[in-house]
Amino acid sequence: MKKTVSVIGLGNRGTEYMGFLKAFHGSKVAIRAVCDVRRQALDDIAPKYAVPEELRFLSPEAFFAAGVLSDALIVATQDDSHYAIAKQAILTGYKLILLEKPVSGVREEYLELRDLAEAHGALLIVCHVLRYSNYYRKIKALIDSGTIGDIVSINHTENVGYFHFAHSFVRGNWRDEHTSTPSILAKCCHDLDLISWFADSPCLSVSSVGALSFFKEENAPAGAAKRCTGGCAAKKTCPYDAERLYIKDPFYKAKFIKYMKRTLTGKAKNNRRDVRAAIDTGDYGRCVFFCDNNVCDTQLVTMTFENGAAAVLQMNAFSDKMFRECHIVGTKGELIGCGTKLTLRVFGGKHVKVHTFSPNVGGHVEGDIRLIARFVKILCGETDDLSGVTTIGATVVSHDLALAAERSRKNGGKPVFLNAE
Ligand SMILES: NC(=O)c1ccc[n+]([C@@H]2O[C@H](COP(=O)([O-])OP(=O)(O)OC[C@H]3O[C@@H](n4cnc5c(N)ncnc54)[C@H](O)[C@@H]3O)[C@@H](O)[C@H]2O)c1
Repeated sequence: MKKTVSVIGLGNRGTEYMGFLKAFHGSKVAIRAVCDVRRQALDDIAPKYAVPEELRFLSPEAFFAAGVLSDALIVATQDDSHYAIAKQAILTGYKLILLEKPVSGVREEYLELRDLAEAHGALLIVCHVLRYSNYYRKIKALIDSGTIGDIVSINHTENVGYFHFAHSFVRGNWRDEHTSTPSILAKCCHDLDLISWFADSPCLSVSSVGALSFFKEENAPAGAAKRCTGGCAAKKTCPYDAERLYIKDPFYKAKFIKYMKRTLTGKAKNNRRDVRAAIDTGDYGRCVFFCDNNVCDTQLVTMTFENGAAAVLQMNAFSDKMFRECHIVGTKGELIGCGTKLTLRVFGGKHVKVHTFSPNVGGHVEGDIRLIARFVKILCGETDDLSGVTTIGATVVSHDLALAAERSRKNGGKPVFLNAE
């Protein structure tokens, strides 16, 4: 008999995961119930998975009132609801829960979820998808094998992409740290998770500088209008022009643009008219210099670890493409990762090895697909090996680092000592 999964939050992430379940694991797993606060989302998605009307819920309250409906649950709602929904899921009796990141911007809340999961025997996995990608697993394996010796430093950059940053962190869902979380948590909990996974040692201190440097009124070009379709004099040369981004997009952004269009229209299937209407009247047609955004577009975080390693993370809104770079220096060699290409150099020899990985099939260097594959294996009882699984316990570290970075940044870059708390 097939194992069953329910999904709360039928937006970009929730439906992406559902698509993978159906396409790659459909013989073993079926979608049983769905929940979203938008009727449109239920109507668009539920029929594709043959979810009957009585198992389509318009609120988490109604969903949980029905008791445990499936063997596992995916929570892919927006950031501010993760804690409450995950908590209710554990209390209702779900034993396997896949929760989108970030868990919460409040330390007490993610610690409570960790403790609750343990007390109730629930496996709460957080979607730190990058850890499942072969590319990052290769880096981890090379470090663990001792090939580059002891880690001395990690220099990691998250190049968010100018169009992605404008869409998500200036005009969109993650623009306000009060309704979402600071960008160093919302965007870079993945990167902090990777860095601490690679360093494999408790972090001792964190310091950070950064700011919302560009996307604010004082940087608006002469003649800029409040909306891109409102007679803006700078339209022709502005890379953030909404019509340019959402309608005349260049090819290499195609996959991301698909997500962006779903977000701005609120429709899984949308046409040019929907997109135009959204640009004319909605949040995503606002000038990037006249939005109600407050999250950093640039931030640097430095960390020291108990084993002597040091790390620097740079979050950067201003790149033409979305990609991560990493330079890991060890006592015997170095690893240089860029996008999907990984170069290993061992000192004192001719040992240079280049690994290339498939580009973003399914997103995050295949991390999304592979997370779901691992989730299904656990769900179907095909493995009880939880090594490398991003449980809520493992997630605490990345969230602690992000909150410490934000504290330091707001305190002029003064170091925060983690073990002194
Ligand atoms: N793991 C990753 O790499 C990754 C990447 C992008 C986004 N995310 C995270 O995934 C989550 C979802 O992002 P998204 O882009 O799919 O967002 P989205 O806005 O496209 O989807 C969220 C869906 O949840 C629904 N929703 C909101 N509140 C709800 C509630 N209380 N109950 C039920 N449904 C509710 C919305 O109507 C929407 O359909 C976010 O927390 C985001 O930070 C993770």
